[in-house]
Amino acid sequence: MEYIIETRALTKRYGNKSAVDDMSIHIKRGDIYGLIGKNGAGKTTLMKLLLGLTFADRGEIRLFGGSDLDGARRKIGSLIEAPALYRNENAFENMKRFSILAPTPDEEIHKLLAFVGLENTGRKRVREFSLGMRQRLGIAVALLGNPEILVLDEPINGLDPSGIKDIRDMILELNKRGVTFVISSHLLDELGKVATNYGIVSNGVLIEEITAGEIDRKCKTSVKAVTNNGEEAARALRRWRNDLRLENDEKSVFISSEIEDTSEIASVLVNAGVRVYELRNESVGLEDFFIERMGG
Ligand SMILES: Nc1ncnc2c1ncn2[C@@H]1O[C@H](COP(=O)(O)OP(=O)(O)O)[C@@H](O)[C@H]1O
Ligand SMILES: [Mg+2]
Repeated sequence: MEYIIETRALTKRYGNKSAVDDMSIHIKRGDIYGLIGKNGAGKTTLMKLLLGLTFADRGEIRLFGGSDLDGARRKIGSLIEAPALYRNENAFENMKRFSILAPTPDEEIHKLLAFVGLENTGRKRVREFSLGMRQRLGIAVALLGNPEILVLDEPINGLDPSGIKDIRDMILELNKRGVTFVISSHLLDELGKVATNYGIVSNGVLIEEITAGEIDRKCKTSVKAVTNNGEEAARALRRWRNDLRLENDEKSVFISSEIEDTSEIASVLVNAGVRVYELRNESVGLEDFFIERMGG
């Protein structure tokens, strides 16, 4: 498998503490890779390593399948922590300054500003911008030079709900056009609606890489049925599907296999003459899934 971003045993120490500890991550072209972990987990440090803003003590980074990191990094746009903007200049002037690194026609700059919803800010200076507007401008700057990868560090931190939705829509739109994303967050909400893959980090360590689909399956509900006869209920369900994982006690049966449609369980039991008093989903919540792995 060829990855657009891959690290092997990447390690970065500050003093005697590893901010990034032996991390091997794998990101495919087109992924929206959500890097999730508590504050201090090492997310920003990992992103800085990928971007060449700080250097590793150990390990390897491969970008676009190769080891020419400087060349590859020209195809990566980024927004790390708060965007470093010129406060006394307007949006267009900021874009002009940053486009020195990636020469861009004015027309294209106007298009980028329109894309992030800043086309009508005219002479307004960045110091009069709201947090959300600065964040949008930061993203417009990151988009200069048509990057194939965007690395965004907690891009919606501190934004209001409509600002969050706008950034999310931008991410999805750019991803449709082929941009690969690495987005960090300490909040599941920030990533849950966009990420296709997750890297869960805790204390500098990559705990797990998992796709959004795999998480869905793992978190799918199990079902508890309260009946007049747990024994009979279990027998009826086994006759229906002999591969079901289930347990019962005197009155209840617990089904821990995936069930597409829980109403089927009710009809199987009723048809077998079992009375059903209650049918309840006992899901492992998405939130719980992450909290457990992120370290409580
Ligand atoms: N420049 C630095 N000097 C010393 N320690 C640092 C520096 N940058 C980060 N750290 C430490 O590395 C760990 C990971 O930090 P960071 O990557 O910022 O985590 P996150 O972005 O997940 O909140 C933390 O313990 C932090 O205090
Ligand atoms: Mg951080």
